[in-house]
Amino acid sequence: MKYKTIHFSSIDSTNTYLKEHFEELDDFTFVSTDYQTRGKGRNKRVWLSNDKENLLFSLLVKNKDIVSAGGFLSVVAVVSVCQALEKYNFKFVQIKWPNDIFVNGKKMVGILLEGRIPDYVVIGVGMNVNQKIFKGRYRKPPTSLALETGYDINIAELKKDVYKRLFNNLNSYSSKEKEFLDYYYAHDYLIDGEVRFRFDNAVLSGTVKGIDEKFNIIIDSDGEERHISSGEVELLRKHHE
Ligand code: BTN
Repeated sequence: MKYKTIHFSSIDSTNTYLKEHFEELDDFTFVSTDYQTRGKGRNKRVWLSNDKENLLFSLLVKNKDIVSAGGFLSVVAVVSVCQALEKYNFKFVQIKWPNDIFVNGKKMVGILLEGRIPDYVVIGVGMNVNQKIFKGRYRKPPTSLALETGYDINIAELKKDVYKRLFNNLNSYSSKEKEFLDYYYAHDYLIDGEVRFRFDNAVLSGTVKGIDEKFNIIIDSDGEERHISSGEVELLRKHHE
């Protein structure tokens, strides 16, 4: 089996497109665009990206076995993108739960998973590639591949590499779960960090202990271990700093 690709010069959001067309589109269809008029981030935020400067795409997955992996697909997605960044030899590539990629302390990649299990999952990836000026308001300071390497990157080549990795990793994830989790742990930005997080409408503080096999974040809050499946986690300080 091979994957399919579609490209738009402009669209509201590649995630929205796949959600609206998942029934008629094939399993493993990638949709990319040069520009989004309503790019979506996590927690109803917007994803801003200049025209033609970055990598913006979404992947539709319909295979029942893969879709049933649910939140674990976040691990596979973020690890696949991290592996594509390895060739640039950055000193610090870190994953912030659930699936942001930080390079040298700044956010380079955001991933948004949406869908309806067991029917389909859409994995949306926004990677800042050649953008150098970020004019919008950002919660976390953004960076791009070009800013971190010092040179412009061929987006088409990078896209092909990321597509292949995602395709291969998703199709083999069940035999490599431990490998992906180990990779995630080795790049975990929040581990041992003191964080503030929202839980059942309350805001609590605690220390991050890791990620469990269901991809919940484990936070020790006043001696009580909580496994949290979604929400906002803000790093206050790292223990060793
Ligand atoms: C986040 O960090 O908040 C997630 C950002 C995800 C952005 C990508 S860009 C391609 C795809 N289409 C969207 O509308 N969002 C995702």
